[in-house]
Amino acid sequence: MKATLIVKNAAQVVTSKDALHAPLTGERQGEVTVYEKGAVAVADDKIVAVGTTEEVFAQVETDSETVIIDARCKVVLPGLVDPHTHVVFGGSREHELALKLEGVPYLEILARGGGILSSVEATRAASEADLVDAGIKYCRQMLAQGTTTAEAKSGYGLSTDAEIKTLQAVRQVDGAQPLDLVPTFLGAHAVPKEYKGEPDRYLDLVIEEMLPLVVEKKLARYCDVFCEEGVFSVEQSRRVLSAARDKGLGLKMHADEIVPLGGAELAAELGAVSADHLLVVSDKGIKRMAEEGVIAVILPGTTFYLKEEHYAPGRKMIEAGVPVALATDFNPGSSPNNNLQLIINIACLYLRMTPAEVINAITINASHALGRASEIGSIEVGKNADMVIFDAPNYDYLAYRYGTNLVSRVVKNGRLVVEV
Ligand code: NIG
Ligand code: FE
Repeated sequence: MKATLIVKNAAQVVTSKDALHAPLTGERQGEVTVYEKGAVAVADDKIVAVGTTEEVFAQVETDSETVIIDARCKVVLPGLVDPHTHVVFGGSREHELALKLEGVPYLEILARGGGILSSVEATRAASEADLVDAGIKYCRQMLAQGTTTAEAKSGYGLSTDAEIKTLQAVRQVDGAQPLDLVPTFLGAHAVPKEYKGEPDRYLDLVIEEMLPLVVEKKLARYCDVFCEEGVFSVEQSRRVLSAARDKGLGLKMHADEIVPLGGAELAAELGAVSADHLLVVSDKGIKRMAEEGVIAVILPGTTFYLKEEHYAPGRKMIEAGVPVALATDFNPGSSPNNNLQLIINIACLYLRMTPAEVINAITINASHALGRASEIGSIEVGKNADMVIFDAPNYDYLAYRYGTNLVSRVVKNGRLVVEV
């Protein structure tokens, strides 16, 4: 078979194996295969061989058109997958930094009409083209930092028009640059000011008007809700998620972030693909997630940026058999970071996860959290040729260095899209 692109001589090619059908849990969360002096061969957009450089060259043919990338002294990973972002939004919120430093709590800023609601004003005021331009810029930053697929939530529109505008912008951003986006409808992200004090009436609009349109226009694959004190209760979250499930969407939740309401238990009850945040998840919630195979998408960059004292119990969840993924939660308020490399550092240091567990969390388990594990998330024959090459002598080095972009090259669908 003729290879169109080969990455060769890597210090390490690092990947999970045989986890296409279920995410990695328990001890397997930390199992990676390492090919030293490794190589990966690609034909068009698919991986056709992986192994040592010698093994790979024995399996494929090359000609003058084959792109050969020498990855000497470098580490090759599957393209990183960021399974929780709010990458399309209007404006920014640096003006809230002062309030935050004065000690005004996150939910208090929201209750005063700032926070998410300030981004809602900016997003409503933006045109679809403005949202697309900003979204492309952020996706290009993410790609340059090694992310090749990401989730993208709506949720800063909170009116039918503005939610549809956001999801249409997500679709355009997806098509306009190499990083792939998986869209999620988050109409239930906050109660907009027109419905202040009337969350149930707002949810009527979400369920009766927005959801049917989103489904009809095929604008989302998942539905999410911010289940939190002062935002949406467990009962209200159950209502919106059940309606979404009936319409064929997969389910996600912002669960048990600040106040332990029992979001994890609800995610398990409804068969959600993931429950995200989970700083204050209960033992019962952990047990139920393990039983139902709900993926914990932990967002430690948000914990860091909100200056919360306690991180989500990542180690405990792994030991309880919950599959763990990690994401940036990139958004204009609680986490204006879109670099998964920083998440590697924070997860190792504060969630007490090993570098191998973290790598699986931002590749294969993250791809399961987006329903894409048969195509992406590992370097295995037949999968999409998405890879990131880091200027690192081994994969531990990725957890050791921080604050520098270590990406050397990114390959997306078999094409070299970033070269530093
Ligand atoms: O995941 N928690 C709710 N939603 C986002 C924050 C949104 C914002 O502050 O703009 C989150 O942290
Ligand atoms: Fe979020």
